[in-house]
Amino acid sequence: MTEDKKFTGTLLLAVFTAVLGSFQFGYNIGVINAPQEIIVTHYRSILSNSLGEEEPYNSTDVYPPTLQSTVDHGKKEIDPEPSTSIVIMYWSLSVSIFAVGGMISSFFGGWLGDKLGRIKGMLAANSLSLIGSLLMAIAKFGPSHILIISGRFMSGLYCGLVSGLVPMYVGEISPTSLRGALGTLHQLAIVTGILVSQVIGLDFILGNADMWPVLLGLSAVPAVLQCLLLFFCPESPSYLYIKLGEEHKAKMNLKRLRGVSDPAKDIMEMKKEKEVAANEKKVSIIQLFTMASYRQPILVALMLHMAQQFSGINGIFYYSTSIFHTAGVGQPVYATIGVGVVNTIFTVVSVFLVEKAGRRSLFLVGMAGMLICAIAMTVGLVLLEQFSWMSYVSMAAIFLFVSFFEIGPGPIPWFMVAEFFSQGPRPAAIAIAAFCNWTCNFIVALSFQYIADFCGPYVFVLFSVVVLGFSLFIFFKVPETKGKSFEEIAAEFRKRKGRSPKGPKTTIELEYLGTKDSV
Ligand code: GLC
Repeated sequence: MTEDKKFTGTLLLAVFTAVLGSFQFGYNIGVINAPQEIIVTHYRSILSNSLGEEEPYNSTDVYPPTLQSTVDHGKKEIDPEPSTSIVIMYWSLSVSIFAVGGMISSFFGGWLGDKLGRIKGMLAANSLSLIGSLLMAIAKFGPSHILIISGRFMSGLYCGLVSGLVPMYVGEISPTSLRGALGTLHQLAIVTGILVSQVIGLDFILGNADMWPVLLGLSAVPAVLQCLLLFFCPESPSYLYIKLGEEHKAKMNLKRLRGVSDPAKDIMEMKKEKEVAANEKKVSIIQLFTMASYRQPILVALMLHMAQQFSGINGIFYYSTSIFHTAGVGQPVYATIGVGVVNTIFTVVSVFLVEKAGRRSLFLVGMAGMLICAIAMTVGLVLLEQFSWMSYVSMAAIFLFVSFFEIGPGPIPWFMVAEFFSQGPRPAAIAIAAFCNWTCNFIVALSFQYIADFCGPYVFVLFSVVVLGFSLFIFFKVPETKGKSFEEIAAEFRKRKGRSPKGPKTTIELEYLGTKDSV
């Protein structure tokens, strides 16, 4: 193993600690799915009381056995009662407010990381997570709908910050040769969080009438663990060196992270980056779009995130149970857990593949695979009436769709954006990319059911067209970043653009592009 490829204990600890935040992100995405029926029942009970309607159940028996028996995570009709639309409104809000929190705070992840540093930024962010978990854990003792909605909003705020802070910190502490593999761990932790929440959300574990507040509040455990471990993690050397000018501390931390006595190579790379950053001043989000040298990378960054979300992946994660139900699968809940397992396995595969195959090729292979699976899903759904075995085709297609997603389009956008930009524009770029991701996620979450109702079995045709369009863009516009320094990546963008931006370039642009000497 070369020095550059060395996994030191400190590096592992730091990456593990950071991705505990990503784990919470995944946990919060998945956790709301399983106990849906039971919480809706609880909402209906308390809202009926507070609206002064005839109480539907014996007041000592908040969760009547008849309704409890319907808790199989499948889609069941909710009895029409006077307060049904209010109950559904509160439930939808409980689910989607999480993405709203994420959208808002994703703008501030980079800013917080710059203001407090990466470590203190993550520590401060955890206060949001802890408040959110607490509100949800005590939800039974007060107005549950208000407590859950506020709790989910706080958790969303935390997760929005995490989606900027974690990839930034992990990208900065990783040696160039491991940046991709370690970058995919953010995604691996997200999918592990989803899977864990799906499993412990089963009704015989925590997804039942007594335990659901524990289930919702449980992300406090990784939050506390993260807070404790952060005290042992080194601050990002490039933040210390480039942002604060603390060379000595940066060197000390690099020694710990790399396990070498003289981290000359990293210091050299950071020195170059610092020179560029010194000229760059602070780059605002607007400047990312107006300065010619940033326009191309930011466009590509946004397209990668849009491709990830508009591929329809979260349509599967939010609605898999009902999709399996429609596809004629017998045990939709277990099929959903199957999706979580396949999802996790293929993210692990991606961790190993990403430094071998490269980001660009994996992204494209993943998108091509998803395209074929989306077509297979459509065939399965359309022909289900004629051939009952088509349900297996649909199920296999969904499993493969998720696998291809995790090979490339899932993990890659999260860390690739940090690779596109040097220190100056990086926080702004990460903020806008994370915001774009959360917004698209929110759009899919809100509209998927309507699209599915409108298109019927042809719902995935729409997604295959989208996937095809994004794949073409990526094929022509996205450069390979594997093993390249920020400077080399900037030069790649310039090559792909095909021509120099019109008009004279500024010194900053020339330096960023690494072409000062050649012009
Ligand atoms: C990516 C997406 C996220 C999705 C997850 C599924 O992290 O950003 O929205 O839920 O993958 O594995």
